[in-house]
Amino acid sequence: MYFGTATNQEQWSNKEYTELMLEQFGSMTPANVQKWMYTEPEQGVFNYTAGDEFANYALKNKKVLLCDTLVWHQQYPSWLDEKTWTKKDLLNVIYQHVYNEVKHFKGRCFSWNVVNEALNEDGTWRQSLFYNVTGTDYIETAFLAASAADPRAQLYYNDYNIEYPGPKSAAVENMVKWLRSKHVKIDAVGLESHFIVGQAATEAQQQQQMQSYIDLGVQVVVSELDVRFETLPPTEAGLAQQTVDYQASINACIKVGKQCMGISVWDFDDEYSWIPSSFAGQGDADLWYANFTTTPAYTGVVSAL
Ligand code: XIL
Repeated sequence: MYFGTATNQEQWSNKEYTELMLEQFGSMTPANVQKWMYTEPEQGVFNYTAGDEFANYALKNKKVLLCDTLVWHQQYPSWLDEKTWTKKDLLNVIYQHVYNEVKHFKGRCFSWNVVNEALNEDGTWRQSLFYNVTGTDYIETAFLAASAADPRAQLYYNDYNIEYPGPKSAAVENMVKWLRSKHVKIDAVGLESHFIVGQAATEAQQQQQMQSYIDLGVQVVVSELDVRFETLPPTEAGLAQQTVDYQASINACIKVGKQCMGISVWDFDDEYSWIPSSFAGQGDADLWYANFTTTPAYTGVVSAL
């Protein structure tokens, strides 16, 4: 089981940050540089400079490289929106993108998040460019392209609010069944696990939901764990609750056994957390405070492992 973090290489100029990252984590996920807008900025023009830098650094430091992400409705290049696509042409563009990128990193990525966040909260399909033009065919195309380009990489579907039973996780189960019935390779479901203090899924809910995916023949990972405060600064009681919330994911993963392959936090130091820029006024979601001191949740996570 790996325990890793997402990170961006701009942060590595901070020595304190980088020492902690290399000392404390066993896997690394690029938080941005492998996303479509960076890797294919113009149609058919691929740029892997930053992705390679990241991958080589991770592997040189003996980290497991978890690759992210191939098809997502955010952070894709603007040329995709500037054209009117036929279904055939867009599926071809998706195939070429996924195939080219996965082939480029072949042998280096332990896993790929192939399709990211394709579902709405009620379990219906998200109305993205990809869905609007191709229906669900883009999902199948993306997985087929990825498995053709690197048959050994673990291929994941990744989403949030699918860590507990409900309509969205039921829809993920249906997606897995559908892909499996068509013999399309999908190896695991990534449970992002972006939680809010006091509103996280319980350990029992998470364990139950992980088991439901596992029973379909796929593995699971906790892919982007963080537990944010909606109001700052945190109270003592809030910090205690955050510890329990972090531990719920760790314990659930450990309890389902080796079918839960690992856990990643979506960065580990509040200084570099994505939360404040995406959720105004919220934060303190990570295991280290901005000043590189550990939070109570860090101690809780270590004791749960
Ligand atoms: C985030 C990055 O951390 C930010 O730097 C970027 O501005 C937006 O995306 N779910 C995902 C991740 O699957 O790719 C997102 O990463 C966080 C939410």
